[in-house]
Amino acid sequence: MTTDDSAPMQRGDGGDGAAFRSCFGSFATGVAIASCRAGAEDPGTAITINSLTSVSLDPALALFCLEDTSGTMESFLRAGHFALNILAAHQQDISNRYARDHTVVAGDFGASWQSGAPILNGALAVADCVLHDVHGGGDHRILVGRVVETGWRSGGAPLLYYRGTYGSIGDSAS
Ligand SMILES: Cc1cc2nc3c(=O)[nH]c(=O)nc-3n(C[C@H](O)[C@H](O)[C@H](O)COP(=O)(O)O)c2cc1C
Repeated sequence: MTTDDSAPMQRGDGGDGAAFRSCFGSFATGVAIASCRAGAEDPGTAITINSLTSVSLDPALALFCLEDTSGTMESFLRAGHFALNILAAHQQDISNRYARDHTVVAGDFGASWQSGAPILNGALAVADCVLHDVHGGGDHRILVGRVVETGWRSGGAPLLYYRGTYGSIGDSAS
């Protein structure tokens, strides 16, 4: 697919929510599930995100942005940890499930790693984090994690998200 450079650039004020979405929806991202578990009695909490960013190598930090009103906020703050489970192309149903329901379905997740957060079966890669800092960010909060463990699979293809639509790119071994 080629870009149509001749299409006019549409513009909107910064406060125009639809324009904001059209702008930042043009930034193609991966998709991840942020997960946590606050104690042995807790089945766990999981939410679909694409605001994942690696922040710092030394110390190893990563963040995601969580809407203030999310019912999952309290769980993440209480747990004091989170795992960022990066989705593979075949996990679109997982993305849709945890955008809707946030209670972990046992069969979707396996044993936890160092932080105690649930680890998604079949994830392309995982960053296991302890909660390091929480910053305000308008109607979201920025949850910064210190990465205590990472995992990844060679090969495979990522699930992508672009302008409200899922996609993927080909299998690449590295
Ligand atoms: C691809 C995708 C990416 C998303 N990224 C985020 C995100 O980064 N932060 C966030 O708070 N919600 C994000 N959401 C929305 C949440 O998954 C969830 O639908 C929303 O928070 C509403 O649920 P809640 O009010 O029960 O928390 C995303 C949804 C999708 C489908």
